[in-house]
Amino acid sequence: MSKCQIDANPSYDKRNFMTAKKTVIAIDGPSGSGKSTLAKRLAEALGVLYIDTGAMFRALGLEMHELGLSYNEGPQLNEFLNSLSLIYGRGGETYLEINQKNVTERIREHHVSKLASQVSKLPSVRRYLLQFQRELAHGQVCVMEGRDIGTVVFPDAFTKFFISASVEERAKRRWEQLKAQNSQGATLELAQVLVDVQKRDESDMGREEAPLIQAEDAHYIDTSSMDLSEVLARVVEMVKVDAQKAGVSLP
Ligand code: DC
Repeated sequence: MSKCQIDANPSYDKRNFMTAKKTVIAIDGPSGSGKSTLAKRLAEALGVLYIDTGAMFRALGLEMHELGLSYNEGPQLNEFLNSLSLIYGRGGETYLEINQKNVTERIREHHVSKLASQVSKLPSVRRYLLQFQRELAHGQVCVMEGRDIGTVVFPDAFTKFFISASVEERAKRRWEQLKAQNSQGATLELAQVLVDVQKRDESDMGREEAPLIQAEDAHYIDTSSMDLSEVLARVVEMVKVDAQKAGVSLP
């Protein structure tokens, strides 16, 4: 049984159940596009819950790796998913607990990115997390960030963004982030991070299940030459306009 745990529910509003569109702010885009930082800051600015779906794929990838499970469909994977305990969120923070282990920090290690990308190709993992993500959002206004939020998880989200940047810029940001975390990134060359980002793009965009693509009705934002505060200010305005159009009450 999966467990969804959210302490804070700051934006619950009964009126939002009356709207046809889902009250989710969907943010998708490739790795290093700045979408995570943007999504977090946007949720803070609006006073709503932030849901990082990549963290869930990371947790499953890490746990399967540690259990020595192969990344294939089959009875072993079904058994793993059927007995899985997954908890997201604690005190408004992005907290991840899998099978009673707090993996919040460890899922950020560089090698886990590859594991997450591998499990994200498995249809039954995607189905499991799709359900989990829909339950987490349950009618409240929230910012949900990932690769398929606007296309698959919440195609009826009232507002959607596709955040991107050039691959060179994204690799540079990822490298700097890894250095700042002082994890294995400190020993990684920028050129290697660029290759890793390119490979992950290919894998995320080329997979059969829920590939990374822009939803037709998403706002496209290229952050290559914009700083975060500029992007944030633009996105906050667009969310407000879309909320008014869709009749969604923001907190
Ligand atoms: O955003 P991230 O780097 O933490 O995501 C880790 C991996 O999970 C990434 O390779 C793509 C995958 N992912 C996905 O397939 N669908 C999502 N909604 C979120 C992440």
